[in-house]
This record gives sequence, C-alpha cells and structure tokens, in this order.
Amino acid sequence: MCCSPQKNCCLCPRLIEFRKENVKKFPSYYNAPVPAFGNLDAEILVVGLAPGLNGANKTGRPFTNDYAGDILYPALKKFGLAQGNYGKTADDGFELIDVRITNSVRCVPPQNKVTTDEVKTCGKFLIEEIAAMKNLKIILTLGSVAHNAVLGVLGYKKSSFKFAHGIVHKLEKHNLIMINSYHTSRYNVNTGVLTQKMFEDVIKKIKALL
Ligand code: URA
Repeated sequence: MCCSPQKNCCLCPRLIEFRKENVKKFPSYYNAPVPAFGNLDAEILVVGLAPGLNGANKTGRPFTNDYAGDILYPALKKFGLAQGNYGKTADDGFELIDVRITNSVRCVPPQNKVTTDEVKTCGKFLIEEIAAMKNLKIILTLGSVAHNAVLGVLGYKKSSFKFAHGIVHKLEKHNLIMINSYHTSRYNVNTGVLTQKMFEDVIKKIKALL
C-alpha cells in the first residue's frame, strides 16, 4: 500500500509495546498502523493526530468509530466531499470525494498522546503521502500536532506559521495551502473550543479556495 508502514512496523518502541498489549486485550481489533483513507488523486489532504484506541485502531480506517469522525465525516458529506452512509466501520461503503485522510502518527498511542519522536519517525510516511498526491492543493490540519507535523516534513520554520483555527497558510515553496482547524476531538467539542459550525466554516473555506 502506498505511503503506509508495514502492518508490523517496528519503528516506535513505545507504540509497539502498546500494540502488543492491545492485541491481547482486543484480538478482534485492527491493531496495526492505520493506512490513509481516500484516493491519492484528491486535491485535499486532512491530517489528524493518531488513531483512537476503540476507533481507527479498531476499525482500521482513520477517524472511523472515533468521536472525532462523528464531527468530521458529516461535515465533509454536507459540503459534497463525501458520499454514502457513514456507518462507523471500514466496510460501510462511505466514500470520500476529492479528499484523503491520514494521521500524523499511524499507530494508536497510550492515553491518546504522541511523542515528538513518534511524530518525527512517522513523518517518513506523511511526506511520502504528500509527495504521492499529484493534485494536492490544500492540507487541512486538525490540531497543532498535525500542523507542526506538516511543517516539519515539508521543512518550514514553525515560528513562521502560527497555529490558529481557520487560518490559511501559504506554503509557497510547495505551491500548497495549509488550513488549520481545532481537532474535532470529544474534548474540544465538549469544552466548546470547537463547534460543528466552526468546523463547517473551515470546510466551507476550503471549498471556496479550490
Ligand atoms: N482518529 C483518527 O484516526 N485520528 C485522529 O486524529 C483522531 C481519531
């Protein structure tokens, strides 16, 4: 599979240990690096944080059965960027239109927290992903980890691109636009940091930029 680690990827010791525990605890789960979802010829790449334990790590598809997907997927569908019924399983037939979705770190991390080293190591796959997307125009980063991961793999100075919800950054060397959103996590929604409307406004902005 393009731009994805092997199912038994052994680059991050802490994540391998966690995977081994999860294989024992949840033998029916996917329990492996979660590959990107959507076609490589898409113009939009959404970059998240990492699979949720009982979400993408269970289903094997980014944001699928994760709370964050309950915000992300309906918004994409509302603006014509997805079709079908989001049924929270990898085989629900739900399809992305002109969008590909991946994560800064492909393996589920303990307590939902990734380390700087893990983001850096997994960046090897993120840069392959970006390079393979020949029609790529817009990268939507969900949260500051994804924002920094994209800047890191493309070689931009982080201090020159401050993360802010809804902001549009021009990545001129690459002829790309990066747009930030707060992550669609349950925590952000429950604390009012992000509302469905705020997220939809970002998607609307992306549509207008295409
Ligand atoms: N699920 C994912 O695949 N990525 C996230 O960032 C959150 C949940």
